[in-house]
Amino acid sequence: MEAAVATESLSKLNINGDFASSLPNLHKNLHLLSPQQVELAKMLVEKGQSHLFEHWPEPGVDDGEKKSFFDQVARLNSSYPGGLASYIKIARELLADSKAGKNPFDGFTPSVPTGENLSHGDENFIKFEEAGVREAQNAAFVLVAGGLGERLGYNGIKVALPFETITGTCFLQNYIESVLALQEASYRMTQGGQKKEIPFVIMTSDDTHARTLELLESHSYFGMKPTQVKLLKQEKVACLEDNDAKLALDPQNKFRVQTKPHGHGDVHSLLYSSGLLYEWRDAGLRWVLFFQDTNGLLFKAIPASIGVSVTKGYHVNSLAVPRKAKEAIGGITKLTHTDGRSMVINVEYNQLDPLLRATGFPDGDVNCETGYSPFPGNINQLILELDAYIEELKKTGGGIKEFVNPKYKDASKTSFKSSTRLECMMQDYPKTLPPSARVGFTVMDTWLAYAPVKNNPEDAAKVKGLLVIVNCFSCQFCAI
Ligand code: UTP
Repeated sequence: MEAAVATESLSKLNINGDFASSLPNLHKNLHLLSPQQVELAKMLVEKGQSHLFEHWPEPGVDDGEKKSFFDQVARLNSSYPGGLASYIKIARELLADSKAGKNPFDGFTPSVPTGENLSHGDENFIKFEEAGVREAQNAAFVLVAGGLGERLGYNGIKVALPFETITGTCFLQNYIESVLALQEASYRMTQGGQKKEIPFVIMTSDDTHARTLELLESHSYFGMKPTQVKLLKQEKVACLEDNDAKLALDPQNKFRVQTKPHGHGDVHSLLYSSGLLYEWRDAGLRWVLFFQDTNGLLFKAIPASIGVSVTKGYHVNSLAVPRKAKEAIGGITKLTHTDGRSMVINVEYNQLDPLLRATGFPDGDVNCETGYSPFPGNINQLILELDAYIEELKKTGGGIKEFVNPKYKDASKTSFKSSTRLECMMQDYPKTLPPSARVGFTVMDTWLAYAPVKNNPEDAAKVKGLLVIVNCFSCQFCAI
């Protein structure tokens, strides 16, 4: 039986007729593999990944490791939309663009999009806040918490850090209690209706999953019903060792592909494949809110922002703060292409200024009469309208346009200092939206909406205004 499978597999794998001579090590071991694993091997060989087998020893040596290798390949293949073949193809294209120094914004002209600027406490703010509290029971909250926090240099999970130092309440407790408070307030405002439970999703990763679950379980989910909380774990993606998108082997284990995080953009495909979006729509929900692991002020800004989404009918509402020109925070920008395409998107600060200069604004990013840049600062908290979100994901499966950021050894750009990988960002979701999509923003005062814990104290000292926030783990009083 095994021999028959191997013979059949061999003929399938006999690419260019010289498989046995060019891949002797894989050839000798084929009988160890299941038919599905042989298919994966064929795909890898076809996609230029023969180097993965060059070191394989004779059958009988490390056979378990060889099978484990394919278990990992199967996981990498199934967790990426379009599989590994698609990952390798996209990687080659993006690496070629990167080598050629291609500007992703070629042909686009930036302009200031329309959105809502709120002043805390005025009539307008109160109107939006009331509308938002009323609507909050129709929202689901999604916390992306799969990040390593390398810049912070903290070994634990960031949601376990204290969000203020008087009680030591951690970020996760603060978030859960805020959602429960909003749930209660929303119900009270619409008395007579059915009391709804606001769904709370946490995206984790291998780096954070077990510790997040343990934090929840050891604190009885901080008062939320365990059934109200769902954890979705993102998978890492394969590392790439050169411009041909050769997959990198793990330096610690030659039978494993090296992997690294793919970025928070994974949240869209995970939500879509989990079926939760349809569940929420059937339960009458209208909004999905995305937020990050360490922003202790956020829930002060959320009700009014939901109010803006409801009142303006936004499909995408990006929360933002006033931003000084050239400040190291991305700007929400409308980009219009010469071919007629347009999108409202976050443009990183180091790309915004040159883009403006190259498109008829010789001074680049400068403050306007308000004393701030007209491009509001993106804080990466998004409110998406559920129906439009589902329609979009039906087309894309939740795949987000990726980027690659290789660190080259020298100016020839032919080799990397260390392996790279494709990455994607949650806020790039609007890139594929049709022109009819209503994409806007809500600007709030920084002291009200934004106090993230990103950098270690030394690096934070270089970022104006962030040192006090980091030193006290974003205590609200220091942030003010
Ligand atoms: P950050 O930009 O703070 O990145 O992520 P990070 O990975 O946590 O920290 P560094 O870059 O290593 O210093 C913003 C949010 O996105 C989540 C983080 O947990 C945080 O809430 N995130 C980031 C993910 O959920 N998955 C990822 O792959 C990356």
